[in-house]
Amino acid sequence: MTQMKNYLVTGAAGFIGANYIKYLLQHFDDVRIVVLDALTYAGYLGTIHEDIDNERCVFVKGDIGDAPLVQQLFQEYKFDVVVNFAAESHVDRSIENPQLFLQTNILGTQNLLQAARTAWVTGKDEQGYPTWRAGVRFHQVSTDEVYGSLGDEGYFTEQTPLCPHSPYSASKASADFVVLATRDTYKMPVSITRCSNNYGPYQFPEKLIPLIINNVLHKKPLPVYGQGLNVRDWLYVEDHCRAIELVIRQGQDGSVYNVGGHNEMRNIDIVKIIIQSIRTIMDEEPQYRSLLADGSSTEWIDESLITFVKDRLGHDARYGIDPTKIGNDLGWRPETPFAQGIQKTIRWYLDHYEWVKAVTRDDYQQYYEKMYQHR
Ligand code: NAD
Ligand code: TYD
Repeated sequence: MTQMKNYLVTGAAGFIGANYIKYLLQHFDDVRIVVLDALTYAGYLGTIHEDIDNERCVFVKGDIGDAPLVQQLFQEYKFDVVVNFAAESHVDRSIENPQLFLQTNILGTQNLLQAARTAWVTGKDEQGYPTWRAGVRFHQVSTDEVYGSLGDEGYFTEQTPLCPHSPYSASKASADFVVLATRDTYKMPVSITRCSNNYGPYQFPEKLIPLIINNVLHKKPLPVYGQGLNVRDWLYVEDHCRAIELVIRQGQDGSVYNVGGHNEMRNIDIVKIIIQSIRTIMDEEPQYRSLLADGSSTEWIDESLITFVKDRLGHDARYGIDPTKIGNDLGWRPETPFAQGIQKTIRWYLDHYEWVKAVTRDDYQQYYEKMYQHR
């Protein structure tokens, strides 16, 4: 009989966490999931409504920093694995409100570690280190941004010293240190993945790719920070989800794994690809034109929509991941080339425009105007 494992997955009403639970439910029969999510502006229950509230996956609305709640969940569900996606995740928002990022990303992570330690420790060894229930794992979902910024050459390896620049990346680097300290001090079985920029379905349209898609449809200016020459290393979200699960199941206890697909692109080139792709779809498949704010023609869908705006403060120049370790040790390879992934993503947004409308209903317009008024 399959040995079932109980997973606590935090932040799974957001972009990557939602893709991860969908991936897990589709590919693995041996998991039961509790999703814990505070449903901030970035969390939308509609994203996972088909996945939750059955015997394999339940949803709990709550804050990862709520100690009594998290402890109670550990008691009730006997988790074997914690996968911590929950975070404030947007660099621009972290520049506006760093405090919230430190609260959620650092203290929230510490709270989860504390509850896991209370639930999982079985005794002490001769040296006084805690002993742990068999098969438990705390997995922290981290980011390549903890390494800081690269020049034109070289890549981030797991040995690259952490050197974060934004309040967001500083909070994620701190959380990584707290996880590693818990490993070193208490010998908790932990793992960390540090992934490059993700794209794909269900990403909130404040991040570059979905924001540009949404703005094209609305015939709004496409804000490109600075000269658009900053480089990000893009990975299709499902490839990231597969890497996380592989690390949880087969990765070494206590290890860090970089995740990325060697797909570095300049922002301006991504924006141009999105414009061109939407133009082609609208020209060739007129049924999509009803999504356009101005469907009378498609002539206006061109690079004149691009607006160069004031640069982001402390804008990291380039990220580039060296994924050798996860490739050699666990056999992970990205499966979705960017050219294919970006087309799938654009089509997903066109085919799920109701989702975009739903997630941008509340304070999105205010956010958007505030962010761009001073640029
Ligand atoms: P997201 O902003 O789309 O989702 C975050 C989710 O966390 C939301 O559902 C939100 O409601 C929830 N949340 C926020 N604060 C919470 C709290 N206090 N308690 C419980 N839930 C809370 O983020 P994402 O892009 O899906 O990123 C998920 C994780 O992956 C983050 O830890 C992020 O740092 C990391 N990461 C993201 C990327 C990327 O490109 N998006 C790349 C590498 C790593
Ligand atoms: P983003 O999607 O916010 O991810 P991150 O900052 O975590 O890498 O931004 C990706 C890149 O795109 C980054 O260099 C900033 C830039 N950018 C723009 O040029 N315009 C925009 O409107 C946004 C949101 C980002």
